[in-house]
Amino acid sequence: MKIAVLPGDGIGPEIVAQAVKLLEVLRADGAKIEMETAPIGGAGYDAAGDPLPEATLKLAREADTVLLGAVGGPQYDTLDRPLRPERGLLRIRKELNLFANLRPALLYPELAGASSLKPEVVSGLDLMIVRELTGDVYFGQPRGIEVRNGERVGFNTMLYSESEVRRVAHVAFGIAMKRGRKLCSVEKANVLECSELWKEVMIEVSKDYPEVALSHMYVDNAAMQLIRAPKQFDTIVTGNIFGDILSDAASMLSGSIGMLPSASLDEHNKGMYEPIHGSAPDIAGKNLANPLATILSVAMMYRYTFADLATADRIENAVKKVIAQGLRTGDIWTEGTQKVSCSAMGDAVVKAL
Ligand code: IPM
Ligand code: MG
Repeated sequence: MKIAVLPGDGIGPEIVAQAVKLLEVLRADGAKIEMETAPIGGAGYDAAGDPLPEATLKLAREADTVLLGAVGGPQYDTLDRPLRPERGLLRIRKELNLFANLRPALLYPELAGASSLKPEVVSGLDLMIVRELTGDVYFGQPRGIEVRNGERVGFNTMLYSESEVRRVAHVAFGIAMKRGRKLCSVEKANVLECSELWKEVMIEVSKDYPEVALSHMYVDNAAMQLIRAPKQFDTIVTGNIFGDILSDAASMLSGSIGMLPSASLDEHNKGMYEPIHGSAPDIAGKNLANPLATILSVAMMYRYTFADLATADRIENAVKKVIAQGLRTGDIWTEGTQKVSCSAMGDAVVKAL
């Protein structure tokens, strides 16, 4: 298995280094994996004048799977929009057809105190957000900024075809089948035609999954319910922009956005794996970042692309163990636990593994 390793910007290289360290241990242990690194985001722009350099895209296409750190940084914010780091990320998702983005939010019992919500609201939380990733207002045409009637207007198009909704629906129902068999489809069908179609297609696809209880919720209510009573959810399926927003909110339920991995899959389970957090330029290069989301992304890689559930469990158990040992990076630190650096956390996971 060939893994394209794309560290990106900010804390990306530090956290990815911890995941690579873990992969090297697995390789020494007999795993047949190969890794090759390439720049993306601001690093791609610096290296080749393009946030998704051609050579990086080629490597990602040829590889069996992709491990990504994070992209973006203030030094790139004034570039022309097509050159900005985020465009590199959006393009690789689109080019590789990674339409199903899995974002689990799981609370480790020891981290209940790190959540900004009351422990009883979040303890036992285990929820999966399936976010559509290659459509919606992120990619819809037309889009732009232009002058109309003597003033500038900015516009984007929220658009889903039924085939786009159907394929992510099948992924979400499939995942719900393996979990608690409850799927909540989140949209804004009381206002948006795009959501009306989304909901209709969800109901059509649900006929193929009679064991799964499908429910529907407007996105504003879903945002409230996630904070009020998050354990009512098992699996959520939603569009690109609603999923972007709700998954950041859900991340806080689990203590820190630094804990949450993600998988972005195409039809053949070729995946790109990345932590859901950003490049955190404020702490970049200081060895302070939490590498666990990236390490847990490797576990997801084993689960979904390599279909090696034993190794996925092994990695996840190693993470549980270091949490149980009381090791914490700054983002999840609470009184009475031991604050460690990014690399020390990586070492501890390797040792636990
Ligand atoms: C995410 C990020 C990206 C997104 C940005 C960096 C383009 O917020 O992966 O959630 O909006 O999808
Ligand atoms: Mg986001």
